[in-house]
Amino acid sequence: MKDKFTKKALSEGYKARSVFKLRDMDRKFNLIKKGNRVLDIGAAPGSWSQYAVEKGAIAIAVDIESVNAHKVKYIKADIFDDVLFEKVGTGYDLVMSDAAPKTTGILDSDNYNSFKLSSRSLDIAKKVLKRKGNYICKIFQGEYFDEFHKEVKKNFRKLKTIKPEASRKKSKEIYLIGIDKL
Ligand SMILES: C[S@@+](CC[C@H](N)C(=O)[O-])C[C@H]1O[C@@H](n2cnc3c(N)ncnc32)[C@H](O)[C@@H]1O
Repeated sequence: MKDKFTKKALSEGYKARSVFKLRDMDRKFNLIKKGNRVLDIGAAPGSWSQYAVEKGAIAIAVDIESVNAHKVKYIKADIFDDVLFEKVGTGYDLVMSDAAPKTTGILDSDNYNSFKLSSRSLDIAKKVLKRKGNYICKIFQGEYFDEFHKEVKKNFRKLKTIKPEASRKKSKEIYLIGIDKL
């Protein structure tokens, strides 16, 4: 059965219900502005990039799965592949990562895989963000969370942790928002 956010996403022309998580974070922290360059990591099917474009940003979407959304530039890539750096360039105002592993139900391995994706997105953000750029990243709560939190904190002036309203209560996901890259 489709929940209220899925129905709302479809009726408003978005590719996924995840859009409401980003919208919630953006409304709280004013993260996406007109003319911003935004790198969307783990972007498929593309609702976060759709939202960024609607707000007047330039969105570059990276995923192994395809992204087909109006005005969004799609780069097919595995984020662990260093070729990515040549493809995406630098000078971003925002790096946002909603990348998630395929879950297995084995808690430790799911948490570890989420941590690896999040850490990689942070490495990418460190290289491609402008000074004072912002960063959004999903991570599963669990044993690796504190280590990741500490790493993000080292690189940004402010750090927020948020569970957006559209995030399912039973999901272990949580989002970290790094504000003003040092
Ligand atoms: C929850 S979905 C993202 C939804 C997206 N934010 C939206 O609103 O449409 C997570 C995505 O992470 C991607 N992903 C996972 N591992 C990846 C990797 N190593 N490289 C690139 N993308 C990856 C998956 O293919 C999947 O599309």
